[in-house]
Amino acid sequence: MFFRGTTIQVRRTRRQFLQTALSAAPVAAMPALFSGCGGSSRKTPDSSLAQPFTLPSEANFPKGFFWGTATASYQIEGAWNEDGKGESIWDRFAHTPGKIKNGDTGDVACDSYHRWRDDIALMQAMNLNSYRFSISWPRIQPSGSGPANSKGITYYSRLVDALLKAHIRPMVTLYHWDLPQALEDAGGWPNRDLAGRYCDYVQLVTRAVGDRVNDWMLFNEPSAFVDVGYLEGTLAPGRQSIVDFLRASHVVNIALGEGFRALKAIHPAARVGTVLNMSACEPATSSDADKLAAERAHAIVNTWFLDPALRGRYPDAFTFLPESLMGIKSGDMEKTRAPLDFLGINLYYRTIASATGVLHRASHAQEWLFPVKMEGGQQGPKTDFGWEVWPKALYDVVMRVTRDYNRPVIEITESGCSYNEGPDAGGAIRDGRRIDYHRQYLAALARAISEGADVRGYHAWTLMDNFEWADGYSQRFGLAYVDFKTQKRTIKDSGRWYGKVAAENRLS
Ligand code: FCB
Repeated sequence: MFFRGTTIQVRRTRRQFLQTALSAAPVAAMPALFSGCGGSSRKTPDSSLAQPFTLPSEANFPKGFFWGTATASYQIEGAWNEDGKGESIWDRFAHTPGKIKNGDTGDVACDSYHRWRDDIALMQAMNLNSYRFSISWPRIQPSGSGPANSKGITYYSRLVDALLKAHIRPMVTLYHWDLPQALEDAGGWPNRDLAGRYCDYVQLVTRAVGDRVNDWMLFNEPSAFVDVGYLEGTLAPGRQSIVDFLRASHVVNIALGEGFRALKAIHPAARVGTVLNMSACEPATSSDADKLAAERAHAIVNTWFLDPALRGRYPDAFTFLPESLMGIKSGDMEKTRAPLDFLGINLYYRTIASATGVLHRASHAQEWLFPVKMEGGQQGPKTDFGWEVWPKALYDVVMRVTRDYNRPVIEITESGCSYNEGPDAGGAIRDGRRIDYHRQYLAALARAISEGADVRGYHAWTLMDNFEWADGYSQRFGLAYVDFKTQKRTIKDSGRWYGKVAAENRLS
């Protein structure tokens, strides 16, 4: 339901597996709910839906606005087996032939485990005052349980101290996809025990650095690691099972609620949020069926991991909620609740949704349960990763969340683009397209703020080129260029431009 890069192949795989899984599942218990979803055939996009959208050419950001970059442990640290670190599902996945483009791995990545001082210097050169980074669970608990590995704690503790010294806010993501492999061996996220294991880990980290870290995010993009990791199989751990997807969804939602309370029990004053990858879900045409499809897409993409926390229920994503397949027990929806202090939004592109036709559940199980086709937009320019540049998506999502959830505090925790420009003859990296991207997304954000959204910060993805999951080192998203042979970092034109915006707190 989520997509990264090309959708066609991913969707075919998912349908195949939904068919298998749902026809093996207790289908007799599934009510026949086709009403409102059927009858549509492929239509041509309705141009009347494309509304004019104007961006301010300059804008001041609120006083105290946070300007940052985001990274993730597996994507930058390297040192995959140093100082007592355990194996993660990403180590295992990347070491499995055929999983990652060009056979790349994160074994060394940007070597930030050793070069973190250089990385802080990059942020200082860009005038940044916030750094969103993630903690590697297997560096703290090599086998997913038991006492903390002191060397792992020391690494993050020093990093936090150095950030504070550099006047950069440390913003910690507790889980950015690198689950200890031992916990995957015990069943992974579909196993309910993981919620408890996660709380133990959260408490270990909070005890270690909670005296200096005030801003926390419980998960990064659950819909990416649950959907793509357990249903589509192109991210670690690479499973392809609808039942695993449904169960993992629910366990992660419980872990989010319980993790929130576990952290607050130790550090009540902490600001605790979570990070969702969101997308503006637009109907392909103005037909009622496509509008309904767009609402279903919004539910699965944007609120599947939010409503259990904020509303104590699942949104209407499917034709019916497969409670027993998901493993929902009585009292669970109280456990998932968490009054998050802020919402982290990662936004890159929009999604175009259209209804699928009337289909039989036995032969087309995916369309039956989730009768929506989702694709990327085609009107805007594309990044080198093939993602459409569509700044209005950021405005639309921020405004919708502001309306639907009573003006929550929002942090933009990621937005960015892959453009693969390298150094020119003089060694400079002329990545004007990246400047255009951030300029437009920031202008869209400024417009949302001027219309009432409470947005406190923007974190460009990413500080420096790094390991882009299944795409290895083939996609460069950084504001700084990394020569992966020498590990030399060079600030790109975009990094200099971003540093000026940060220093002036203004887009001009
Ligand atoms: C997001 C991930 C991040 C990075 C960017 C490009 O979905 O959170 O780690 O891969 O995409």
